[in-house]
Amino acid sequence: MTDTLESMHLSFIGCGVMAESMIAGLLRQNLIAPERIVGSHPREARRSELESKYGIRMFDSNADAVGAANGAVVLSVKPQRVANVLADLKGSIAANGLVISIVAGAKIDTISDALGTDHVIRAMPNTPSQIGAGITAWTCNENVSEQERAQVRRLLSALGKELFVETENMIDMATSLSATGPTYIFMVMEALTDAGVHLGFSRDLAKELVQETMLGSVKFAMASHKHPAELRNMVTSPGGTSAEAIYQMEKGTLRTVLSKAVYAAYQRAVALGKK
Ligand SMILES: NC(=O)c1ccc[n+]([C@@H]2O[C@H](COP(=O)([O-])OP(=O)(O)OC[C@H]3O[C@@H](n4cnc5c(N)ncnc54)[C@H](OP(=O)(O)O)[C@@H]3O)[C@@H](O)[C@H]2O)c1
Repeated sequence: MTDTLESMHLSFIGCGVMAESMIAGLLRQNLIAPERIVGSHPREARRSELESKYGIRMFDSNADAVGAANGAVVLSVKPQRVANVLADLKGSIAANGLVISIVAGAKIDTISDALGTDHVIRAMPNTPSQIGAGITAWTCNENVSEQERAQVRRLLSALGKELFVETENMIDMATSLSATGPTYIFMVMEALTDAGVHLGFSRDLAKELVQETMLGSVKFAMASHKHPAELRNMVTSPGGTSAEAIYQMEKGTLRTVLSKAVYAAYQRAVALGKK
């Protein structure tokens, strides 16, 4: 077990998809012992499920989950629930207690003011975290110590890669680019698979051709360190199939549509933070 986390206790408030990804990753990588993890959930069936699957302790009350671990607190409820949860936890966390929020939009100052602690981290993971292949952007206020930052890096590494960003606005930016990112990719994946079916492939065959092409293209781009336009030009022969396809994508304003989608998601993330 690694030294940065071996003394840590954790309370997960709201054990849904993302909290479970983090718990599973931490235990899979042997970063923390199950007896150091507690969680809260309003439903009995979910509490029993997580207790038997991971050997962690689960509580009905959010404040009891915080009190039982007496360690860092991970806020992992939906944005609509966060105000109630902050009210539940008021007075339960020490002034120097560490709080890590993955709630979209919830501001560091809002959390800090509501809970009376000034050691707050904001992190924004994405769904590939469920298989340890996520990317999480995170930031914190100036009171978070170097040791706490090191702990958070190890914690977030349970989900995949982690990236510290300088400002809170960059968390809203990452919300639209990487946290919402799988949505763009899955829609492109779906559209290309449908196009393959339209050509006459079976759905299974089209899916395999598309998924392997996407996976291979990303690996190739990362390994080659070349600009995507250069990689694209390499397969664009004069009068060829790629040139014909590019013409149609530009005509359909694919780049503008993607840019507008990312910007709209960013504006939505900012608006959620103002609620
Ligand atoms: N999923 C993503 O890709 C992603 C990426 C980045 C950030 N996030 C953020 O991560 C947070 C959690 O997302 P998620 O996908 O894990 O959501 P989720 O699966 O809905 O998990 C939240 C859990 O909290 C439970 N809950 C509801 N009210 C509660 C309360 N008062 N106290 C304690 N728990 C309560 C919910 O129970 P019920 O199911 O019974 O309502 C649910 O199981 C969100 O704020 C989201 O913005 C998600």
